[in-house]
Amino acid sequence: MEYDLFNPPPAPNTVSDKQEAGIEATDNTAKSSNEKSVAERIEQLRSELHQHNYNYYVLNAPVISDQEFDKMMKELQELEAAHPEFSDPNSPTQRVGSDLGSGNFNSYAHERPMLSLGNTYNREEVRAFYDRVKDGLNGQPFDICCELKFDGLSISLIYENRNLVRALTRGDGVRGDDVTANVRTIRTLPLVLPKGVAAPERFEIRGEVLLPWSRFEALNEEREARGEALFANPRNAASGTLKSKDARVVAQRGLDAYLYYVLADKTPSDSHYANLLAARMWGFQVSDATRLTHSLDEIFDFIDYWDTARKDLPVATDGVVLKIDSLRQQEELGMTAKSPRWAIAYKFQAERARTRLNNVTFQVGRTGAVTPVANMEPVLLAGTTVRRASLHNADIINMLDLYEGDYVYVEKAGEIIPQIVGVDYDSRPLLTGKKIDFIKTCPECGTPLVRYEGEAAHYCPNSTVCPPQLKGRVEHFISRDAMNIDSLGPETIDEYFTRGLIKDAADLYNIKVEDICGEDGTRMKSAKKIVESIEASKKMPFDRVLYALGIRFVGRVSAQQIATALRDLDHIRNASLEELQAIDGIGTKIAQSIVDFFADKHATDLVNRLIKAGVQTSMPEIQLQGEQLKGKVIVISGTFTQHSREEYKEIITKHGGKNTSSISSKTSFILAGENMGPTKLQKASSLNIPLMSEEDFLKLLDE
Ligand code: IVH
Repeated sequence: MEYDLFNPPPAPNTVSDKQEAGIEATDNTAKSSNEKSVAERIEQLRSELHQHNYNYYVLNAPVISDQEFDKMMKELQELEAAHPEFSDPNSPTQRVGSDLGSGNFNSYAHERPMLSLGNTYNREEVRAFYDRVKDGLNGQPFDICCELKFDGLSISLIYENRNLVRALTRGDGVRGDDVTANVRTIRTLPLVLPKGVAAPERFEIRGEVLLPWSRFEALNEEREARGEALFANPRNAASGTLKSKDARVVAQRGLDAYLYYVLADKTPSDSHYANLLAARMWGFQVSDATRLTHSLDEIFDFIDYWDTARKDLPVATDGVVLKIDSLRQQEELGMTAKSPRWAIAYKFQAERARTRLNNVTFQVGRTGAVTPVANMEPVLLAGTTVRRASLHNADIINMLDLYEGDYVYVEKAGEIIPQIVGVDYDSRPLLTGKKIDFIKTCPECGTPLVRYEGEAAHYCPNSTVCPPQLKGRVEHFISRDAMNIDSLGPETIDEYFTRGLIKDAADLYNIKVEDICGEDGTRMKSAKKIVESIEASKKMPFDRVLYALGIRFVGRVSAQQIATALRDLDHIRNASLEELQAIDGIGTKIAQSIVDFFADKHATDLVNRLIKAGVQTSMPEIQLQGEQLKGKVIVISGTFTQHSREEYKEIITKHGGKNTSSISSKTSFILAGENMGPTKLQKASSLNIPLMSEEDFLKLLDE
């Protein structure tokens, strides 16, 4: 075949026009070739959907919007329905996406399968649902309960005799992972229902686990400071959190839960709405945005109201769920293999814009991670003008198959950082611009980039010379949560680098007023202020100094945990991997990173010069509040109601005791909360170590 301007060759890796047109391709070529293209399209959709499922459920990093995913799924369902000869039990249409198999949790069968919901995107589809229900119920009157569709992950909770006994994720809908220990940290969930509530003896309640916006933002800020990959949205952050191996991490993150479905052999009422109100009386968080409606107009009012009002909610929502209120009628309507016929989701329009991609630049951060940034024609999106969007990493660039000058879709569906979610391939110019490829060498220093196993990002390994890494580390050092030298900013740091005044953070302490007050002293006032605030930073507590060093993966919280446990710099830099790992909250990744840091010649040199400059190198002596625990070695285990674990650690030290993380013959007693792990229990009993309840412990301190 010959190509010319009107019949250009397909761009590499792109979907050809025919494939793109898919089922709608009604070209009248011979049947066999038509059939072949249907088979090809099915194959393509399946493989892409598998990949997207994996991105979403396993990597927690979707690259397309839910809406696009649903659209592809719908196309595949239609193709499979029209061509049963191509059916396949492993097709993505045959299962609900699975979050099983992270390997850390036991999985259990759900007592009743956890189905998903059919989606609608406009009024016509809602109306069609309403009419289907009307037909299905042969003209019986019916009410519809309208709820918000919370954008987190679904959870099934089992209560027996008023106690939470098990929490399962949705998993593949049939089996879920047991995340009970993690769910117990969610403060808005009742672990035990108050005595006297009229709840069934045994019931299941389902709902959504979420990370509120404020928590999500704080978490990403922390991750950014540690040089870790950011979570794309609160849902991924919540899912990553709920699947964490360490319930303490979960507790710190501050998950929340809204409940929306009560299941029992005998529920309080035939009305779903009434059951939700009952659940609220039992102590569950049921959203106030729950309405019983009696007509299509009322449903549309609810949708219209929340489409705007949801922007002020503390948690992410992505639509509305409509449920037939009467359980008897629900049963009458029944369900399909995947979703109930008595409920439907209406998805809010994601905020999206189309604009031109001018080019892609690559930024190097303080950890050396290289981030591709799309520079676009400014476009208005959800109230702000967007010019730049993160492209995250090389895999995403390849998946999108981008050319300069392409028209791209930008979305801010709850996400804070705008993302390119797709390309308008139809309007790709015939004479395309440059293909966007991930770079091979550092744009700043030319060093070949590396990609570490299991990581999506590319790094510039030249950490001791590459300018943005050097500057980035100084910027981190002076930042608010670190040494808080607020008279300096990125521009001044940049200037000092250019002038050769500094090469790293330790050099800051040698700066003199005359170095920076300008040739004729015009900047005397600000120069004095800068030198003063650098001087003042020498008083910053040691845990801030440790954080300011910018050791990979060591965030503010872990720096504090390490400093509190080991007390001074010498101890930390000579600590073994095992010693560091024994600190509560510190895992192998952080521990190894600290060991590596102090083994590095350049890092040691920096640290020595900082010590010489006079920064704090140890935590202050502890002010005792009492001596009740003098000489006692105490292990904390389980979960608590009166204080957090961190608070108990502090309480122990302030009363003269010593907190350790593992039980040995030296342990005096165990401060035992709820749900102490079985291994710890066994060890305690084999060594004859007594357990003390939270209550008794607090009593002991009161004396
Ligand atoms: S009811 C059979 N109600 O949306 C009914 N689900 O796409 C099952 N969701 O897996 C669910 N808010 O994770 C229901 N008010 C709400 C919801 C809700 C969010 C989620 C849930 C479910 C998914 C279905």
